[in-house]
Formats: sequence, structure tokens, C-alpha cells
Amino acid sequence: METQKVVLVTGVSRAEGLGFETARQLGSAGFKVIISARDLVKAVRLSTLLQNENLDVVPLELDILSDLSVQNGAWEIENRFAQLDVLVNNAGGFYDEGGTALTQTFDYTQEALETNLFGTWRVIKAFVPLLEKSNSGVIVNVSSGAGSFKDPDFGLVAMTDVTAYGISKLALNGLTVKLANELKTKGILVNAVCPGFTATYAGTEAWGARPVEDGAKGIVWAATLPKNGPTGGFFRDGKPIEW
Ligand SMILES: NC(=O)c1ccc[n+]([C@@H]2O[C@H](COP(=O)([O-])OP(=O)(O)OC[C@H]3O[C@@H](n4cnc5c(N)ncnc54)[C@H](OP(=O)(O)O)[C@@H]3O)[C@@H](O)[C@H]2O)c1
Repeated sequence: METQKVVLVTGVSRAEGLGFETARQLGSAGFKVIISARDLVKAVRLSTLLQNENLDVVPLELDILSDLSVQNGAWEIENRFAQLDVLVNNAGGFYDEGGTALTQTFDYTQEALETNLFGTWRVIKAFVPLLEKSNSGVIVNVSSGAGSFKDPDFGLVAMTDVTAYGISKLALNGLTVKLANELKTKGILVNAVCPGFTATYAGTEAWGARPVEDGAKGIVWAATLPKNGPTGGFFRDGKPIEW
């Protein structure tokens, strides 16, 4: 019998969010799912909701901006589960609210980079040793078409605003490629996924956002790739998209 795989999903603080739905879909696929949030109370509340659906879910406090919090999280997972099979870097944000390269503040832009790039990077550095203990380690970086040159709706060329967010996800895509190269010899797959414009905030359906179940599917696809699956790619709905 195959042993149950363990997945960590970051940034699961809202029932409406992609992290929560990703956790639900991975739990339904048989994973033990560790859902993490910087506010443990929120992670506990949401894990209870998923446990009530008979899913194997445990909460974890993890602030991706804090070395101590991330290191504690890695120790806790090592002590409890010995290894990690899949890491879904979902935590992120900073959508600019209209900021352009000339109007957005450096403070805001630095915070966006701290979370979307360095926070994700910090988590990866801390958890790679645990992923190495899996014989099929996978990292999924939840990125965005806003960080791509070619996305016709939200991309870097298509939009003047969404500057800090777009640049932070562009950098995250670059990190994905560098890590994929470095981790090839360790058999760990690293891919970036754009979930598409997804209705995780009230009112966004009216602007064309799709249901969260659909956005999460592409993340789950990348999280469940076979050992010989692609690495260093950028995907939406299981299909490559242009950088
Ligand atoms: N929704 C879309 O249309 C869309 C499109 C493309 C990409 N994405 C990406 O998908 C991911 C999820 O977004 P979402 O739409 O589901 O929004 P969301 O619910 O706001 O998800 C973002 C999560 O990141 C968490 N987070 C932020 N800073 C953190 C930190 N320092 N430590 C730990 N957690 C932190 C937030 O927690 P707090 O509540 O504690 O702030 C929140 O749970 C993000 O990376 C986003 O960029 C979304």
C-alpha cells in the first residue's frame, strides 16, 4: 500500500481563498494536508471545517515573513511527519489597487516583494531538506499572469498598473526557473502556476473572475505531478503558458 503523502499549503486564512480550496481538493485526493496561516486561530478554524468533511487536515502557524516562524514550522513538520512530499506556496497578495511604476510607493513595493518573492523563497529554503526526504518532492509556486510578459489581460505589457504585484510575480517566476534547475538532481519538481482570475473576493465574479474550484484545480494538477513530470514551467489549468 502506498504511504499517504503530506502536503503543506501556505496562506490558508480565508475559506474563500485559493489555499483553502486547494487544501480541500488535495485532502479529497487522499493527502494529509497541513494548512498554514500566520494567524493560528484562522488555520485551526479552517482545518476544523475540512476535518468535518472527513479530510485529513492539520493546522500550522506559519508567517512567511519570519525566519523563526518558518523554521519552527519546518521543525514541527519534521517531528510529526518526518518528511514533506509537496509544498504549495500560495501565500501572497499586494494587488496594488491602481499603483503604477511612477505612483506606487517603494514601501508598498518592498512589502510585495518581501511576501511574494522573499517570503516564498524563505519557505522553500527551510522545507527543501524535508522535500528531499520524499522520493517525489514537488514545489508549486502560485504565481500570476500579472508577472508574465505575454498575458493579454493582466500581463506586464498589457497593464500599466498592478506594478508591485506584477514585478513580484515576475521575480517569483524567475526564482521558479532557478530552483527547478538546482533541484533537478534531487528529483524535486518546481513549477509556477497561475490560477487565472479567480473569485476569492466578493464582487470579482462581476468582473469575470471564475469559481475558486476551477482556479484551484490547476494548482492541484501541479501538486500531483508524477516523478517524471515537467519542472521549471509556468502553467494554467495544466497547460503551459508563456512567461
Ligand atoms: N484570486 C486571483 O484571481 C489570483 C490570480 C492569480 C494569482 N493569485 C494568487 O493566488 C494566491 C492566493 O490568493 P487568493 O486570491 O486566494 O487571496 P487570499 O485569500 O488573500 O490569499 C492570500 C493568503 O496569503 C496569506 N498571507 C499573506 N502574507 C502572509 C504571510 N506573511 N505569512 C503567511 N500568509 C500570508 C494571507 O493571509 P492573511 O489573511 O494573514 O493576510 C492569505 O491567506 C496568492 O499568491 C495570489 O497572488 C490569485
